[in-house]
Order: sequence, then structure tokens, then C-alpha cells
Amino acid sequence: MKDVPTGLDRIALCATQIAKSFGDTQVLRNIDLGLGLGEVVALLGPSGCGKTTLLRIAAGLLSASSGQMQIAGQRVVDGSGFNAPPEARGIGMVFQDYAIWPHLSVLDNVAFPLRMRKLGRNERETRARRALDRVGLAHLADRFPGTLSGGQQQRVALARAIVAEPPLVLFDEPLSNLDRELREGLALEIGTLLRELGLSAIYVTHDQSEAFTIADRVAVMLGGRIAQIDSPETLFTAPASVAVAQFLNIGALVDGRLCASTGFTCTRSQLSLPSLAGRAPEGPARILIPRTAIRPDPQGALTAQVLRCQFQGDRYLLHLGLDGQSTGLVCPADLPAPVNSQVPLAIDADRLRVFPL
Ligand SMILES: Nc1ncnc2c1ncn2[C@@H]1O[C@H](COP(=O)(O)OP(=O)(O)OP(=O)(O)O)[C@@H](O)[C@H]1O
Ligand SMILES: [Mg+2]
Repeated sequence: MKDVPTGLDRIALCATQIAKSFGDTQVLRNIDLGLGLGEVVALLGPSGCGKTTLLRIAAGLLSASSGQMQIAGQRVVDGSGFNAPPEARGIGMVFQDYAIWPHLSVLDNVAFPLRMRKLGRNERETRARRALDRVGLAHLADRFPGTLSGGQQQRVALARAIVAEPPLVLFDEPLSNLDRELREGLALEIGTLLRELGLSAIYVTHDQSEAFTIADRVAVMLGGRIAQIDSPETLFTAPASVAVAQFLNIGALVDGRLCASTGFTCTRSQLSLPSLAGRAPEGPARILIPRTAIRPDPQGALTAQVLRCQFQGDRYLLHLGLDGQSTGLVCPADLPAPVNSQVPLAIDADRLRVFPL
């Protein structure tokens, strides 16, 4: 994880207490977000949590109800209702629906932001060709968008967003119209390109693997708030709340009681974890058993049931339940196991998280 720089000249974006309501409905609540120069942050969250709304406020396409925002040291939103227009922010944008102009050639589409900046024709063309080369489309410069595939059109949009090397690039689900294979390849390319150019970016997605591929830090957004912002590794090893662990589908959540002498005991099953004593105050607690914390072991302390045995070509994946309830736990196996059979599991207690209730 990159440290977020504190010097103003090292900050690409700084949002403080941004809120947004549509009528009586509050969609964004107290958003604080800092983005270092050259840093890529993903906004990851379920549909309707406010990702696009926050991005549109950063772009200047929507005004905030309250709060402040600076982009590259320039105040673009302040508490008094001032909103710098999109063209004054100089940022690059890539949206889901490509938004490239059908009547302009690929080259002219990419050169457009440079025209807005009144650069001369020769320089515009040189830089647009360089940007097209970076996204692997130099050979299509003279074509028109209607003759390109979806993936190619999105590369044109990407080239246009980076051509002016803006202080900030905003992405709103740019790959969601493409098929899975293309998505994975392009996500990797976008991440590499942003790093090579040292660009700062906010990348909105509801696809966890895309967020983890592209971003240095991932902001998990739930219900209009940033529930946690951390590196992908930290989100998985130290989710800040039950809601974050649930959203990221890290493993099973089991309710029980924590006691200073006996540790954690589950109220509904045989599960007992003495080593968790002292991890949190005594009382009702929910523990997170990450998928990475369990492995089959004949001497294991936990007994799970096989809910489903999935053939994966080179091995089997066992979907496991506790007390007959689905848990989200899965475990690889060399041999198939019948549904409802019992699997003893060893638990790595160091990887468990305890959330007092
Ligand atoms: N112009 C608007 N008027 C009223 N409500 C709106 C408006 N724009 C967005 N909303 C509401 O604000 C909430 C957040 O919308 P937003 O588009 O930011 O979500 P999102 O996280 O981008 O979702 P998705 O993943 O589906 O794109 C939703 O409940 C949406 O209905
Ligand atoms: Mg959206």
C-alpha cells in the first residue's frame, strides 16, 4: 500500500465530508477520501451504494449537497455551493457506454481533449497517435468507432482519457459491457498503463477481482459511506466490520459468546475455540472464519457438512456448511465427498476475526 502523502502538492484528490441528497433521500454520507499523486483507488460496492454519484461529483457533472473537494490543489467544491465546471477540472473520464463520438475518426476522438486545450494540429496528432499506440490501437487511427468492437471502443475511450496526462482519471465501470475474458485482460492493461504513466485514478466497479487487479487501495462503499479503505490484502486480513466481511465474502460468520476463561463457544453447534479468549470483551460475539483459515484435518476441531461437491477439472471444491447452514466456506479436495458427509477441519485461530455484538 502506498502511504497517502500529506503535502498538498502530492495530493491528486481530497474530499472532505461530501454529502449528497436527492430530495429527502440521502445517497452519500460524510465521505472523506484522499488520493495520493499516482495512486489508483477503486470504489467497490453493491448497486445503488453511491459510487457513480461520488464520481460524478468529482467530475463536476453533479453538485454536492455539502462538503469540500480539491483536485490537484485546486478547490473544485466548497461548502458554499461553488462547483467548478467539468472543463475547468481537466480530468479524464471513461464510462461504461464508451461515450466516443461516432462522427469522428479514432484519431480525432483521441485528440479531442487536446483541441479543447488549443494545442496545434501537429502536436495534437503526435500525442493522439502516441496514446493510441499505448493502448495497442495505432493501426486503427483512421477508422470510425462504428467499425470497432466493444473492447476496441473502450480502448479508444481510454486513450482519449489519458492523452492530456490529466491530474486525475475517473473510471465508471468501464468494462462492464465486455465479456469476462476481455474484462480480465483489459483490467490488467489499464492497471499497468496507469502505473507506467504515473496517473492518479478513481476506478468504480462492483467487481471485486477487477478492483483488486487495478487499485493500490480499495474503498468499500456501503449505503452511501466508505466503510473501509485499505489495500486489498488488508481488507481481507483485517475487515473493519461484519458488513465489510460479508460484502467481500471472505468466509463464514458464526455467532456465539466470548468468555475470558473458555474462549469462544458457538451457541448452536459444538464449535469451541478456547484460544480466542481475551481477543475482545466478554459477551455476544460474531467470528469470521476466513476461507484461508481452514483446511481438512482428521484431528480438526471443527466439523462441517458437505453441501455441494463441485468438479473443477483438476480437483474438487467442497462447499461446506455449519449446522446445516450455508457458510460460504469452500475447501479444495483431491477426491469427491458425498453430500451431507462430515468433514473435520483444522482452524488457524490467528486468522480469525472477532466482532463484539
Ligand atoms: N438523479 C437522481 N435522482 C434521484 N435519485 C438518484 C439520482 N441519481 C442517483 N440516484 C439514487 O442514488 C442512489 C445511488 O446511485 P448511484 O448511481 O450512485 O449508485 P451506484 O453505486 O453507482 O450503483 P450501480 O452499481 O448500480 O451503478 C441510488 O439509490 C439511485 O437511485
Ligand atoms: Mg454506478
